[in-house]
Amino acid sequence: MEAIRWENNALYLLDQTRLPAEERWLRYTEYRAVARAIRSMVVRGAPAIGITAAYAMVLAAQENVCKGDFPVAMSQAKAVLAASRPTAVNLFWALDRMERCWQTAGPDLPRLEEEARAIHREDIQMNEAMGKAGAELVPEGARVLTHCNAGALATGGYGTALGVIRAAHAQGKVSMVYADETRPLLQGARLTACELVKDQIPVTLICDDMAGCLMAQGKIDMVVVGCDRMAANGDFANKIGTYSLAVLAKHHGIPFYTALPSSTIDLSIPDGSHIPVEQRDGQEVACFAGVQTGPLGVQTWNPAFDVTPHDLLTAVITERGVLHPPFDRKLAGLVHN
Ligand code: MRU
Repeated sequence: MEAIRWENNALYLLDQTRLPAEERWLRYTEYRAVARAIRSMVVRGAPAIGITAAYAMVLAAQENVCKGDFPVAMSQAKAVLAASRPTAVNLFWALDRMERCWQTAGPDLPRLEEEARAIHREDIQMNEAMGKAGAELVPEGARVLTHCNAGALATGGYGTALGVIRAAHAQGKVSMVYADETRPLLQGARLTACELVKDQIPVTLICDDMAGCLMAQGKIDMVVVGCDRMAANGDFANKIGTYSLAVLAKHHGIPFYTALPSSTIDLSIPDGSHIPVEQRDGQEVACFAGVQTGPLGVQTWNPAFDVTPHDLLTAVITERGVLHPPFDRKLAGLVHN
């Protein structure tokens, strides 16, 4: 499956809010509409958001190439896109990379398009490399638990955590993937289970509150999840519920991994307490599939992500190999070299 296409000067996004019921592609020619698509999660997943924002900057350039002050218009577009979702650092990483491009090349549309395409292409390459490195950690006959969707739909293609699972499955090592449904927006049920079923990788869908019971019964050999932002010390934000899984894994002595490209590492913050966590509309909690399940007007709490401390991580899987603790110097080396 793929989530993002660029064709004939337009951006196409697979509407992930409608999956798996409907595969509907939406066409975008205005960057402001793309910012709304990111906010409403037509496209989601840290690397996919970054790639989408890069293409949105090409749209912004197309919209402004014949107008007055190109750099001012581009900075404004960058600010609008940067305000769409706060947690995944890939968004800001991609916007900064596009900014360096227009600052040096000016309103050079082919050059900007090539930069966005390169961000997209490189993401797929990083996922494939990460899959290869991570597959080494997967034992024969593995029963693997994952959370949310860190697959092809969340990236340029192939996936980070699901990339590791795909690579290990290709080596015949995976006997079962357990996919948390991932309330409130069900990315595990709607997207991860869908990707795995399509690829004929054995998958069992569970409610989020069943993971501990599975671990206690000795049915999970490892946990691998994605990442939205990793701080310099290895603390990382991922979909709400990741932290609970990490604590459970520690309690049961199960290896716990996150897979991420270097574009997800934020060395500007020392630890996870500095990661901005998106708060979303409480209706996502008070409703299920459009049906009101909590009493009308009930108070809710709906952080989209939580932060897992680095000491709960067994290792970090990156495109340049597996990092074992302590993480700080290795993460800095990965970004700087
Ligand atoms: O709110 P979402 O669906 O954008 O959250 C996605 C996740 O938390 C993923 O695990 C993360 O972005 C990594 S995707 C490779």
